[in-house]
Amino acid sequence: MNKPRKQHLIDPEVCIRCYTCEMTCPENAIEHDDNNVVVNADLCNFCMDCIPVCPTGSIDEWRVVRDPYSLEDQYGWEELPEQGVIADDAGDTNVEALEDAMATLLADAHKGAGGKTKAPATAAKPTVNLYNLGKPVEATVRGNFKLTDAGADIDVRHIILDFQGHPMPVLEGQSIGIIPPGTDVDGNARLPRLYSISSPRDGERSGYNNVSLTVKREERGICSNYVCDLDKGDTVKVTGPFGATFLLPEDHEARIMMICTGTGSAPMRAFTMRRQRAVGEKNGGMVMFFGARTPETLPYHGPLKRVPETLLKQHLVFSRVEGAAKEYVQDRMLIERKEVARLLQDPKGYVYICGLRGMETGVDQAFQTIADDFGGDWVSMRDTMREDGRYHVETY
Ligand code: A2P
Repeated sequence: MNKPRKQHLIDPEVCIRCYTCEMTCPENAIEHDDNNVVVNADLCNFCMDCIPVCPTGSIDEWRVVRDPYSLEDQYGWEELPEQGVIADDAGDTNVEALEDAMATLLADAHKGAGGKTKAPATAAKPTVNLYNLGKPVEATVRGNFKLTDAGADIDVRHIILDFQGHPMPVLEGQSIGIIPPGTDVDGNARLPRLYSISSPRDGERSGYNNVSLTVKREERGICSNYVCDLDKGDTVKVTGPFGATFLLPEDHEARIMMICTGTGSAPMRAFTMRRQRAVGEKNGGMVMFFGARTPETLPYHGPLKRVPETLLKQHLVFSRVEGAAKEYVQDRMLIERKEVARLLQDPKGYVYICGLRGMETGVDQAFQTIADDFGGDWVSMRDTMREDGRYHVETY
């Protein structure tokens, strides 16, 4: 009988099919088909290079197995199998020593890996991977609006996609993929690029089967330029929806803190609209720390002014306003430390971080400083919040 060994796997329910892990893996151990992204147990050497680049933590899955799951097994999965009981060599499944060995193997498998989260306990059950590479859905562009000022140094767009008769059941915080036309240098069809949905579940326009995206034009970005140049009436190929953890609790008393930069505001807009429509102002509280270069480049700057403070407390910070000191979200969190501390100590407090990867360290340090103030152990608080589905990070 084979010896128990650890196997690296990807959770198909949580994975958003951004393929970053596949592009990062130095062993070429990660591959995909139309349905799933999978890990070849014969090639994976547990180097962990793929762990930090995964925006969702879906990559951080491990099982102890005697016979590794094959690629075929993994391609067929809609959800990850539970950890099975591994019998010892004599076939006995009930021995303490074996359980200890399993625990050691799992602890070892998790070493160096982080960022794994759970959905909030009260979140609605998301639909994932309804449309895939082999079977995308066609959407029609209903609008393409520039969110940044004409003279601004960046171009961010609000794109509205209409799915007409095709179901597109999304939850706030999920993403969809857009497949740009054409082929790559090797002549293969291009892979979809993932965009966070910025509209609530009942549609950008309530009751209509449409979804909005917040897209920044990247200088040489094939897909972002394609999306930013779309005209009303154009059709696009869409995959998804994806993502099963960065979700809003249905508990109306939950206290929500949103920390974002630039287009990382997309899910935060969806969260705010959802709460506004479903709960109104009598909710557990919502606060947002939102960073951009200038007011002219902060997506939704105008519409945000119309959101009442009783629904959403806003801290908009700017890094490149002439004559003003550079301010990042983490700087403002420290200024508003009392409010942040209140949320960290509230068992119904939820944190959502979305935007530039670079801000993760600064935001984490701000939390650490604030927790130190009230004698909290930030690392264990963060672990508990993650475990409870109350701490969510999606950065790129
Ligand atoms: P900066 O002026 O230093 O680039 P972008 O417009 O590129 O999407 O960025 C959004 C905002 O995030 C900008 O204000 C940018 O400031 C800021 N930013 C850049 N790096 C960090 C960081 N490490 N922590 C927090 N905010 C950051």
